[in-house]
Amino acid sequence: MNLKIALLGGDGIGPEVLAQAVKCLKAVEETFNHRFTYTEAPVGAVAISNDGKALPKETLQLCKDSDAILFGAIGALEYDNDPEAKVRPEQGLLKLRKELGLFASIRPVKVFPILSKNSVLPKKIVKGTDFVIYRELTGGIYYGKKSLNDDATLASDLCEYSEKEIARIAHLSFKAAKKRRGRLTLVDKANVLETSRLWRKVVTEISDSYPEVHFESIFIDNVVVQMMTNPSQFDVILTENMFGDILTSLGSVIIGSIGLLPSASVGSENAMFSPFHGSYPQAKGKNIANPVASIFSTVLMLQHFGLYEEANAVATAIQKSFKKGITTTDILGSEKYGTDYVGDYIADHIVDSDDDSNI
Ligand code: IPM
Repeated sequence: MNLKIALLGGDGIGPEVLAQAVKCLKAVEETFNHRFTYTEAPVGAVAISNDGKALPKETLQLCKDSDAILFGAIGALEYDNDPEAKVRPEQGLLKLRKELGLFASIRPVKVFPILSKNSVLPKKIVKGTDFVIYRELTGGIYYGKKSLNDDATLASDLCEYSEKEIARIAHLSFKAAKKRRGRLTLVDKANVLETSRLWRKVVTEISDSYPEVHFESIFIDNVVVQMMTNPSQFDVILTENMFGDILTSLGSVIIGSIGLLPSASVGSENAMFSPFHGSYPQAKGKNIANPVASIFSTVLMLQHFGLYEEANAVATAIQKSFKKGITTTDILGSEKYGTDYVGDYIADHIVDSDDDSNI
């Protein structure tokens, strides 16, 4: 298969971890006889320092013209510490999502049994955790009208959702639940928020078309408790943009490191694959960041294109690295390896075999 892949390393550790993902894709090309082309483009703080824009026109065009986008990370300390900055790195990512219509972020949270000791939660709680969060990605408070009064003493962010925005991701999540363990949990705050009540109404109506899926709704404040005490009860979680952002970070705590989990952001025409984690600027250039989330995002990309054997080969190589203890400092264990070393190890172990992966 020929695939045009846009590489958006972004800020902080983004380019370093993305480079490891590319190594692995090159190994996939060689092992399975594919031809992928890679084109790099700036986004985020790096792009702002070039020409003042977080998402340059050329970067957006490249993404539109590509089959897939591999994304590193976004954000830089100088902006986090400057609430008055008008152009911010994150705007690059938000604009990209909106322009490409990437309305659903699919974020699997599955424990790697061999790493479960890394979790802050007891092993017996973590055991069997395997759920996927469907996070709405182009609506809600992230994109509503923002305002700040003249003397900067009053600010507001509007949270809006239309029935159509809710319905399209609801259908995706019910279809996923049908293929998985047949359980869908809508997370909202319908006892307080009007938008949540619309979510509940629309999703409840849609649930009638999926009688084989057990549907339930839970308030966000309850779900965080459930996730920390009994995470294995969940199968597919559906939620709006900001709740999804928070819940996916919580999910990474269950797994034991935010450096392990990938996400796929999809729309009707484009798809982007990236780690859950942020730009971790403190680790930039130190060769200590965990590349697994980025490499794992290629597994989602390969699956997206129906390349299941290839995806399995990468997932199996990741498992091998865990078994051999070839991991970075965020994972408990005796030896510590650098980002590059872990990337090389995984790339070198990508083979065409019938090995079953546990991922
Ligand atoms: C994520 C990130 C982004 C978000 C930031 C970087 C804008 O936290 O993808 O989870 O909040 O959506």
